[in-house]
Amino acid sequence: MGRPYVFITRKLPDDIVAPLYDKYDVNMWPHEHLAVPRDVLFKEANQAEALITMLSDRIDEELLKQSVKLRVIANVAVGYDNIDVETATKRGIIVCNTPDVLTETTADLTFALLLTTARRLIEAAEFIKEGKWKSWSPLLLAGTDVHHKTIGIVGMGKIGQAVAQRAKGFHMRVLYYNRSRNIEAERALDATYCSFDELLEQADFVVCLAPLTNETYQLFNSRAFMKMKSSAIFINVGRGAVVDEEALYEALIHERIAGAGLDVFAQEPIRSDHPLLQLPNVVALPHIGSATKETRYAMMQLCCRNVIAVLEGRKPYTAIQSQ
Ligand code: DGY
Repeated sequence: MGRPYVFITRKLPDDIVAPLYDKYDVNMWPHEHLAVPRDVLFKEANQAEALITMLSDRIDEELLKQSVKLRVIANVAVGYDNIDVETATKRGIIVCNTPDVLTETTADLTFALLLTTARRLIEAAEFIKEGKWKSWSPLLLAGTDVHHKTIGIVGMGKIGQAVAQRAKGFHMRVLYYNRSRNIEAERALDATYCSFDELLEQADFVVCLAPLTNETYQLFNSRAFMKMKSSAIFINVGRGAVVDEEALYEALIHERIAGAGLDVFAQEPIRSDHPLLQLPNVVALPHIGSATKETRYAMMQLCCRNVIAVLEGRKPYTAIQSQ
């Protein structure tokens, strides 16, 4: 019997994948910044016992049905809305993600995006580089305070809690909305559970960290933006499709809310001529929530360890349970 075949859908650093090369036949899509085409992914998945996938790879029923040898999919992300976990599980394929290792890093980015949007840092940095700074003046690039304001966190998982911890450092009042109440987080972080509407009505900063599910799809729609304060800033580091982007655009141009910081988009990569990107009060980032070298290495390493565990017949470290 030959060695198991592992396909990795993106070029990963050699030292990360070395443990796989020692044990298996490994093929890696050779591009670091280009997604694998679907036809190549289909061909490879048909041969592979293990796949290491990116959040940009769609692993749907059609692909899973023809992946006859596949035993494990390790997704380099904590989110797994790109994978049909139910079908995978029915077919005996184990799906793994990368929780925990990215929690603090993603919370850092979330808070950085909140501060950047509130204090208009991108506008200010561009202003000075473009030679527009003529004189100090009282309201030049004046933003809005973050400290002592109210933050409303939608999705109080581990990243949400880590964001709440940062907010406490800024003396913020913390509200949260989640599928289920988290009494421990309430105690530890002095966070207050409230309904989605209450959160929208009261928060100065509405921070979306919710995963994309059937329930959260376009949760932030025109009704939600109407409920928010006109001074509120919306931050999204969850998934783009949790937001109706047209409704967000309308809310911004009609000044129903004050600004938005977005790390994720319904369609990624978002086109540079997308209406949202033309607005000065929108700070947009290319899905870099967990993008530090330390964390991305930890995520890739965890994926390799999960693949090895499953192919060796052991329990993976971070398997997803089908709901
Ligand atoms: C994830 O892991 O799901 C994040 O979106 C990556 O930054």
